[in-house]
Amino acid sequence: MSTHKQLQVSAIENGTVIDHIPADSLFKVITILSLDTIPHQITFGTNLDSRKLGKKAIIKVSQKFFEDDEINKIALVAPDVKLNIIRDYEVVEKREVRIPDVVVGIVKCFNPKCITNNEHIVTRFKVEDKRELALKCHYCEKITTKDELIMV
Ligand code: CTP
Ligand code: ZN
Repeated sequence: MSTHKQLQVSAIENGTVIDHIPADSLFKVITILSLDTIPHQITFGTNLDSRKLGKKAIIKVSQKFFEDDEINKIALVAPDVKLNIIRDYEVVEKREVRIPDVVVGIVKCFNPKCITNNEHIVTRFKVEDKRELALKCHYCEKITTKDELIMV
């Protein structure tokens, strides 16, 4: 077996590496973090081999250091993410993400009759179960679960 360890996506000098994203959540993470509109250099790879996830994705955002409440939003679709904070090419910090207590925006309410699906009102949920992911709508009180998650 080769001992050669090569990065599948180039190293960055400064910024944040978001590793261990399930491959099918890559574009959701991009949307949640609004990476399509930030001016920094971004590289990503997907369908990379991972022993834990099968296929994983990775995103490297140069010059960007996320606040906790900003980055924690991605835990909804990528709970096992490993954040690596890079300064001068070195990993100076490793962090994980935590599912927040309250989710504002990001996902749609599962109930078609909910006011948020019929008027211009931003969705708002209380996270009732972080393991199984159950989001209780602030407006209609119906529960949206992991399998019903649709991004707004
Ligand atoms: N990385 C990077 N640029 C750097 C340093 C590291 O993009 N200048 C990336 C690596 O590609 C890797 C992640 O940051 O995806 C973590 O780096 P490191 O801790 O060196 O890798 P591992 O030991 O493999 O960490 P883990 O097991 O947590 O993935
Ligand atoms: Zn609702």
